[in-house]
Amino acid sequence: MKTILTGIKPTGQIHIGNYLGAMKPAIEACKLSQDTSYLFIADYHALTATHDKATFQEMVYEVAAAWIACGIDPKKTVVYLQSDVPEIFELAWILSCFTPKGFMNRAHAYKAKIAENEQNGKKDLDFGVNMGLFNYPVLMTADILAFDAHEVPVGEDQIQHLEFARDIAQKFNNNYGETLKMPNPIKKGEAKLITGIDGRKMSKSYSNSIPLFAPEKKLRKLVMKVKTDSLAPEAPKDPEGSLPLEYFKEFATDEEVKIMLGRYKEGVAWGDVKQNLFEVMNREISPMRQVYDDLMADKSSIDAVLKEGASKARERSQDVISRVRMAIGKR
Ligand code: TRP
Repeated sequence: MKTILTGIKPTGQIHIGNYLGAMKPAIEACKLSQDTSYLFIADYHALTATHDKATFQEMVYEVAAAWIACGIDPKKTVVYLQSDVPEIFELAWILSCFTPKGFMNRAHAYKAKIAENEQNGKKDLDFGVNMGLFNYPVLMTADILAFDAHEVPVGEDQIQHLEFARDIAQKFNNNYGETLKMPNPIKKGEAKLITGIDGRKMSKSYSNSIPLFAPEKKLRKLVMKVKTDSLAPEAPKDPEGSLPLEYFKEFATDEEVKIMLGRYKEGVAWGDVKQNLFEVMNREISPMRQVYDDLMADKSSIDAVLKEGASKARERSQDVISRVRMAIGKR
């Protein structure tokens, strides 16, 4: 048995970078697995950065609807909200007592914040850092360990967090004996980063992303904006590092990619490449967009899925937390 677990932090509109880098591989892995899989929305992780009530609520629904719309099989995969599973937070506290503070000082997100403050000439390098942000990796460790997860498919930028999870589990086990299961690190090739339409990493903060469920017209408009060189239509195009081709490969069949590579060699207008790109993207996305729009129009259907998910999720996390409580000697 191989339990797959992954979480996604709601940070607003899901973009195709989230979809291709994290959601699609996770959903495919769940389909292949014999065991029950766990996909959850890390809503309390989002609370480290989002303190507006309406925004927070909307973000959570958007992500939940997106997971459901992307085609998970609810019989095999449990979808839930992190905040609906209190065992995670109890475990997070316990684990924090086994986490050297120095580990957290080395966390990428925290270090980036410090570097930003330094650059902006702030006297207090911890400016804007709340304890939630600082402890983020401990909570993530609890998300994983509370479910005895074996495999955690995540993007490249989350690999360090997985290493923390293993280190923390090891420290706990060294003290109490084998209690927590070691989650397996992701093999490098499996996690990928998706480039934004301007050529930088796709990120909400760069405004260079393509929202997964953008209406068709908007999707087409964004695809037309994807960065290319300015060679004339008849000039042969270099496939190496070509952004429209990078996206195309994600959505097209092998046969379609072969044809496209032939057109690059002969020379093809960027407008034609992008039109073709739009078509293959929309082919995959439009049925999901329909489900997504329906869910967002009736949020009670989302609530129902999450409620059932939480109750199934807790069956597993309650087992784990009982083991942990016994191990530490709680009466
Ligand atoms: N930190 C992850 C991200 O930003 C989200 C996340 C939270 C997660 N807890 C997790 C991913 C546990 C995998 C497992 O994308």
